[in-house]
Amino acid sequence: MEKKNIDWSNLGFGYVKTDYRFVSDFKDGKWDDGKMTQDDKVVISECAGVLQYAQTIFEGMKAYTTQDGRIVTFRPDLNASRMADSARRLEMPVFPEDRFVEAVVETVKANAAYVPPYGSGATLYIRPYMFGSNPVIGVKPADEYQFRIFTTPVGPYFKGGVKPLTIRVSDFDRAAPHGTGHIKAGLNYAMSLHAIVDAHQQGYDENMYLDAATRTKVEETGGANFLFITKDGKVVTPKSESILPSITRRSLMHVAKEYLELEVEEREVFLDELKDFAECGLCGTAAVISPVGKIVDHGKEICFPSGMEAMGPVTQKLYETLTGIQMGKLEAPEGWLKVIE
Ligand code: PLP
Ligand code: COI
Repeated sequence: MEKKNIDWSNLGFGYVKTDYRFVSDFKDGKWDDGKMTQDDKVVISECAGVLQYAQTIFEGMKAYTTQDGRIVTFRPDLNASRMADSARRLEMPVFPEDRFVEAVVETVKANAAYVPPYGSGATLYIRPYMFGSNPVIGVKPADEYQFRIFTTPVGPYFKGGVKPLTIRVSDFDRAAPHGTGHIKAGLNYAMSLHAIVDAHQQGYDENMYLDAATRTKVEETGGANFLFITKDGKVVTPKSESILPSITRRSLMHVAKEYLELEVEEREVFLDELKDFAECGLCGTAAVISPVGKIVDHGKEICFPSGMEAMGPVTQKLYETLTGIQMGKLEAPEGWLKVIE
């Protein structure tokens, strides 16, 4: 299969229209068979549930070309199950998990010409999403839904690739206790837009959100979980009911323990202990692992010993091991890679 003529190494994290997308409709209490289409337009009622009351959820995953030329995705079963959790929380019908994985495979296969080559630094981002499509005017769930998957080739999420980021502690909250922070609902991202625009205007790369109840504990950023490395080499990640259960973070904790023999801890992380960590990183599908060099808490700078020039040594090892697994350079744990072709 011939690849598209794209300057893979210079891609940013943006939308490039690819040839095919998957669409399935939910009507009269059931999902139809679904199909691949070349039509990238969505036509819905002006009163659709998604437009009026933001009934929409999504997932984010990637397809990679491995060293030996296969196309694979990483743990798509976990995206399927998280999307089912998101659907249940927003009173949406679950798209069956096995069909989710099949549809991802089908969509990537149809767009194989857009999967960036091995070593290019780019990947094919996969965006499954679902929304309420029929008219809803009283506040209630829609009766009809559309589930779609599109793909787009992407480069690094943060400009500058692996240059350490500067993050500020946000005065805005992202998620309430017992709210929707633990699911991937569009509404969580809508409410972060003002905070991210403001952060960028003030010269910061991202926001660190705190727990809304006490504002003493670290939660996550707008699009990634945190990892910290202690001065004695332990990997620590915040535990909270209101953060998204990142698949990258769960995988990294396994990699740290089983591949790198590091001690790992998932626990509450307090703002006032940040100064004691040696390294900090953001992890997620889009972010992979992006190093954080500095956190600014209302004028007070917390500078990690790893500095502003390069990833810290433990973060680097975690990055190399995870991407090594995803690109087929290191043996993956059973079931982590789904081979597409
Ligand atoms: N946290 C938020 C708010 C996110 O949007 C994402 C991205 O999906 C993550 C964390 C990372 O999750 P994952 O590693 O499953 O991509
Ligand atoms: C992802 O990492 O897949 C996400 O959905 C994060 C988003 C901010 C791009």
